[in-house]
Amino acid sequence: MLDRLTINSPAAFENLDVSLAAIEKLGGQRQRVSEFLQYRPLINNFNWRPGPHDDFHTWRVLAITAAGGRLVQKERPNLGLNQTALELTAAIHDSARTIDHAPDWGHGWRAAQWAKANLKDQIDAKTLSQVRFLCTFHALPDQLKVLPKSILRHTSLLLSLALFKDFDGVDRFRNGSDLRVDFLRLGVSRVMLPVAKRLHDATEARKDEGIPAMEIVATEAKRLGLMIE
Ligand SMILES: [Fe+2]
Ligand SMILES: [Fe+2]
Repeated sequence: MLDRLTINSPAAFENLDVSLAAIEKLGGQRQRVSEFLQYRPLINNFNWRPGPHDDFHTWRVLAITAAGGRLVQKERPNLGLNQTALELTAAIHDSARTIDHAPDWGHGWRAAQWAKANLKDQIDAKTLSQVRFLCTFHALPDQLKVLPKSILRHTSLLLSLALFKDFDGVDRFRNGSDLRVDFLRLGVSRVMLPVAKRLHDATEARKDEGIPAMEIVATEAKRLGLMIE
């Protein structure tokens, strides 16, 4: 079903110019640096430890989700993608990990529980329920097939899950590369892949500068045109 929803750009795969051109076409619809930094109190609320799922990963996934989600919205406005839910999920999805270098299948559910307790006065009920759904199911092995059947009717929610899992996935260039490109679910993720890799490499190279992750990611994302002032 999701094939029908795919932004079909196989030629874009691993082509940074195509990737940047697609994002540039968003023009003023791109996330602003000030909007990106609005997530600072939320993300800095958590205890980030050094490792593959640190605050650099979180800020990068947020930047990629912000741009990639907007790309889908531009191409498929009728889907009614909830961009706020996607971005909030990016901000908190790995905040409750207790194991960093091995599967920790419960961390999405724990992040969802945190959202339920802490975000209910800040966002509407529908957005909160999407954040909880996306957090929970981003961290379950696909083969479990535990998605409730009722969800299958909610095309935009399923697309959001596929999108988020991909945007989380394209940041996997840690310790060499453990990214399986053929595991990406949607064409738009392949469009985002080259710029995600560039953002990853540029920010990882600056980790020892002692500057907060959000500032480094914002600077490099802006340099790449992923966000605007
Ligand atoms: Fe995760
Ligand atoms: Fe993640």
